[in-house]
Amino acid sequence: HRHLLGIEPLGPADITTLLDLADDYATLNRQPNKHRDTLAGLTQVNMFFENSTRTQASFEIAGKRLGADVMNMAMQASSIKKGETLIDTAMTLNAMHPDLLVVRHPQSGAVDLLAQKVNCAVLNAGDGRHEHPTQALLDALTIRRKKGRLHRLSIAICGDIAHSRVARSNIILLGKMENRVRLIGPPTLMPSQIAEFGVEVFDDMREGLREVDVVMMLRLQKERMDGGFIPSEREYYHRYGLDAEKLSHAKSDAIVMHPGPMNRGVEIDGTLADDINRSVIQEQVEMGVAVRMAAMDLLARNRMPHAV
Ligand code: CP
Repeated sequence: HRHLLGIEPLGPADITTLLDLADDYATLNRQPNKHRDTLAGLTQVNMFFENSTRTQASFEIAGKRLGADVMNMAMQASSIKKGETLIDTAMTLNAMHPDLLVVRHPQSGAVDLLAQKVNCAVLNAGDGRHEHPTQALLDALTIRRKKGRLHRLSIAICGDIAHSRVARSNIILLGKMENRVRLIGPPTLMPSQIAEFGVEVFDDMREGLREVDVVMMLRLQKERMDGGFIPSEREYYHRYGLDAEKLSHAKSDAIVMHPGPMNRGVEIDGTLADDINRSVIQEQVEMGVAVRMAAMDLLARNRMPHAV
């Protein structure tokens, strides 16, 4: 079975194929009748071992719009609480013959491990600090629709890069599509293997944002800062929080993105987040459903050539 475990194995042509199909689904999703039978007869199981609003809801809606039978496992109420392991839990569900397994897990690599054990397509809905491929794809679709292209753009990813699977998947995807990626944030929140990424790094927001086309903000992921340095929210907002003044250093038509959940007044000014002339945060959520429909469609029909 083919899986969608990360952006890493995909080539530019795979990304374009998926985004083209997702674009069609985005049009369908604005119609009164959004239903298709593409996944009719198939069973989709969503297993979220970590909290989610957007990813879980959009995977459920995406599956239902394509006619799949969708089950959300309530992991808090599952036998994981009685000591059953991730793999035993997955094998138990596997014996019920699902066709699509959507998995979020706090440990990097847990979804890859699970994918090796089951007989169905696995979609990574976010694993630790590793990857969140459908997030990067929905961000890419949003950028492509707003900017008319997905290459030769200057894109700033700002904030807590070190703990962010969203940043990692986006850096990989945007690099494959030949964009210029800048990372902006405190050195304490930059990943140690930064040199591998082929990106420019800035500590100063105004300098880093100069003339960029896209500004992508990230949440301070305190739940992953086990024992490490946690900046004060006031100081962080002052230096790295995006507001209208800092944004004025970007191009005048630069768009503002945030994967959510956002913390208003920590990494982004609430008024700017709501400014529909600059912020595309709601479009990102909308594209999330379309991208997940496209990903499940391609996997179910085995048409995602370079997915692992
Ligand atoms: N962007 C994102 O993954 O949001 P959730 O954690 O709410 O799914």
